[in-house]
Amino acid sequence: MGEKMGNLRRTSMCGLLRTENIGEEVVLMGWVQKERNLGSIIFVDLRDTTGISQIVFDSTVSKEVFEKAEKLRSEYVIAVKGTVRARQSVNKEIPTGDIEVLAQELKILDEAETPPIYIKDDDNVSETMRLKYRYLDLRKPKMQANLKLRAKTAKVVRDFFYENNFVEVETPMLTKPTPEGARDYLVPSRVNPGQFYALPQSPQLMKQLLMVSGMDRYYQIVKCFRDEDLRANRQPEFTQIDVEMSFVDVDDVISMNEKLLYRLFKEIKGVEIELPIRRMTYKEAMEKYGVDKPDLRFGFEFKDISDIVKNSNFKVFFDTIENGGVVKGINVKGYGDSFTRKDITSLEEYSKTYGAKGLAWIKLTDDGITSPIAKFFDEEEFKNILNRFEAEKGDLILIIADKYSVVCDSLGNLRNEVARRLGILSDDDFKLVWITEFPLFEYDEEENRYVAKHHPFTHPMDEDIDLLETNPDQVRAKAYDIVINGDEMGGGSIRINNSDLQARMFKALGFSDEEAREKFGFLMDAFRYGTPPHGGIAYGLDRLIMLFTKSSNIRDVIAFPKTQSATCLMTDAPTVVSNKQLEEVHIKLQD
Ligand code: AMO
Ligand code: AMP
Repeated sequence: MGEKMGNLRRTSMCGLLRTENIGEEVVLMGWVQKERNLGSIIFVDLRDTTGISQIVFDSTVSKEVFEKAEKLRSEYVIAVKGTVRARQSVNKEIPTGDIEVLAQELKILDEAETPPIYIKDDDNVSETMRLKYRYLDLRKPKMQANLKLRAKTAKVVRDFFYENNFVEVETPMLTKPTPEGARDYLVPSRVNPGQFYALPQSPQLMKQLLMVSGMDRYYQIVKCFRDEDLRANRQPEFTQIDVEMSFVDVDDVISMNEKLLYRLFKEIKGVEIELPIRRMTYKEAMEKYGVDKPDLRFGFEFKDISDIVKNSNFKVFFDTIENGGVVKGINVKGYGDSFTRKDITSLEEYSKTYGAKGLAWIKLTDDGITSPIAKFFDEEEFKNILNRFEAEKGDLILIIADKYSVVCDSLGNLRNEVARRLGILSDDDFKLVWITEFPLFEYDEEENRYVAKHHPFTHPMDEDIDLLETNPDQVRAKAYDIVINGDEMGGGSIRINNSDLQARMFKALGFSDEEAREKFGFLMDAFRYGTPPHGGIAYGLDRLIMLFTKSSNIRDVIAFPKTQSATCLMTDAPTVVSNKQLEEVHIKLQD
């Protein structure tokens, strides 16, 4: 049973006491991390959000207090009054290891049942248990640190934008579908039978309207909702740092955002990133790394050997090129010895999961060159291949032949996998790059038409506008992503602010006038009344926090996240609702 705190008021925090505090009388409150009863002395580790202090209950100081302390168990909530003193056996592991608190008074504020998970960082209980008992999981120091770092990041972001005259404006959660390309979460309307709101996939249209409104500079730290397949860095509801600016072109948005990134890295990580941040076109990224989010912490860049092998006797390569494909490879420079034949077979299996049909390889060792494909080439061809890869003793060359998109995907992912297996990726090394000049459209094989790669309001590059009707696949966009260590941290674009151009864009996307009106009529109307040139960006805040906290799982940086199947194990959401509730919103379930 809990007691009132009475006249006890907290004076200090457990994790902050130091030798300077020796002699002070303090009142601490917190949870019992662990207790050790040595017969006439009880040691209790008391935990609050700042850390741990050791409390000593001595039967010779007060029998009554000692007897009460004998009842303490893990996670009991207590208040202790006592005196800080030097600790006899110093504990170098914790910041308060030089002191302890000799207790004079103890109040048990609440008892606790034995918790179903241990409250310690290195507990390897299943994530299911962690999510079910999230309120206990969040007691762990690492989880507390993650949430605090997240809060600090939000503060740095707000300070930065406030100082630069950005206005934080809230935009509606009950809204119309936004065009980010995922499925919408829908909310039925009670007062408008048969009609639905969509939760925003992003505030994209609203922030553009704010530019029409003359807000000039907008930002918001905002929840976005996307019903899509979840991955390690994707949640159905996640948070964006959303930004929009008026009277800008690509360089203006990028340079403002570089200042923000500089500030974030400085204040959160104590790292000074180099400005300007490197830029790479989408085309270069695809050609050298096979992906639009290259990890630049390591090399192993793609080399194209199609020209060398196009007349070779290796049928696989010959046929691939005949059919319009390419033969590309990477040189895992200096790490050849790290991969046995078995390892290479496993890399081949890995690349097959991305559609590759095989993995050819050349290994250059002290004992000479081993390669299952060497026999197919004449001396000249083989020499040229080695030269193209700048191959030396100790190298391993991995080659994939296929159509361009499969080579990009499989070799790009293989490149990352090789680096992961080698363990050469440091999470204290930050390699930032802007990927620019994205294609405006991508071809949707299922729908058999071009769709916007970003969204339909993205401005084409000025020099490509004339290709809109003739060569849509060649039109590049004023779009950019910020990529850090191989992850897309944010993306944005300059928007179309001219109705004629917007109409051409909708046409290229195959929208009829009616379709465009129905979906985005309000935006098109707004644009008739004087629209400034504008553009912006949105960052995935959760992903930034993952990077800053070195978390590999997005759920570790979100207080109450969803599982892979978009459920909340703690609250059991989503749930069935009563027939009455369904009737109220005019919904009848299928049998
Ligand atoms: P985009 O769709 O690229 O752009 O989203 C911006 C950033 O949000 C993050 N992100 C996610 N994070 C976690 N879980 C998800 N499901 C998820 N989806 C996206 C990514 C991504 O880079 N309106 C545009 C921005 C603009 O044009 O200004 C937009 O939403 O880090
Ligand atoms: P084979 O003579 O068919 O056994 O192939 C010899 C080598 O070529 C093996 O190491 C295969 O994995 C590899 N290989 C097969 N298809 C491809 C491909 N499309 N791209 C790269 N290597 C391939």
